[in-house]
Amino acid sequence: MAARWTRLFCPNARSILPRKGSRAPSRYPLGSLHTSFSSSSANKEPEPAPRRVLLVWHSRTGLARQMADAMEQGAHDAAEEMELPLVLVRRGAADASVEDVLTADGFLFCAPENLASISGAMLEFFHRTYYHAFQAEGTDSATYTETSRLLGRPYGVAIAAGSDGTSAAAQVTRICQGWRLRAVAEAVVRRNGLVQTKANIQAPKACSEDTRVACWELGGLVAATVLSS
Ligand SMILES: Cc1cc2nc3c(=O)[nH]c(=O)nc-3n(C[C@H](O)[C@H](O)[C@H](O)COP(=O)(O)O)c2cc1C
Repeated sequence: MAARWTRLFCPNARSILPRKGSRAPSRYPLGSLHTSFSSSSANKEPEPAPRRVLLVWHSRTGLARQMADAMEQGAHDAAEEMELPLVLVRRGAADASVEDVLTADGFLFCAPENLASISGAMLEFFHRTYYHAFQAEGTDSATYTETSRLLGRPYGVAIAAGSDGTSAAAQVTRICQGWRLRAVAEAVVRRNGLVQTKANIQAPKACSEDTRVACWELGGLVAATVLSS
């Protein structure tokens, strides 16, 4: 499936990712990571730890799970094309830890919109981890400052929805702005196309090919950004 997407999206994929065996385009300089990775010198410096992308997801009826699958695949495909190691840490929202957040070089978030919000499990993940991402200094109102430990790290968000999805996308975007993350693209918001009846809302969902591709591209873009910074 990934190879087919790569063919389908070849022009775009090439603008994001260097082709196999070629050097990265100058806007994604690989720098010391690539150099030290390919060095054969006996005195070479220890290899840097592989870059990490954290994928946090929640899904009630399957659409966001399949979107997360595509994001994960896109991230792996990008790393493979760039011939660089990438650790993709995939966590259900209930299992993602503060350490997962602090040690990630980039982020992928994927969840459904429920009642004009991201789903409760996903919101709980942000509530549980949000303030741990700030470094506080100073003790009184005159000197107290907080800085984000995640400053500038790239992220992408994908929302599964019924008829809307914009509130959840805006909510995650605001949270990521609070963390001072850097969006690599607009949020991917995908409506499942079903009439919003009680039965349809609760039924298992299928993921369309174009949704898969959009999520695959987003995963690849976050991974490529992490790997080239
Ligand atoms: C309790 C509940 C609330 C929902 N609220 C919204 C909503 O506010 N906006 C919307 O577009 N879809 C809403 N939906 C529909 C889901 O977002 C949609 O079915 C989506 O595809 C579910 O993703 P999932 O399959 O990953 O769980 C709601 C669904 C449920 C179960």
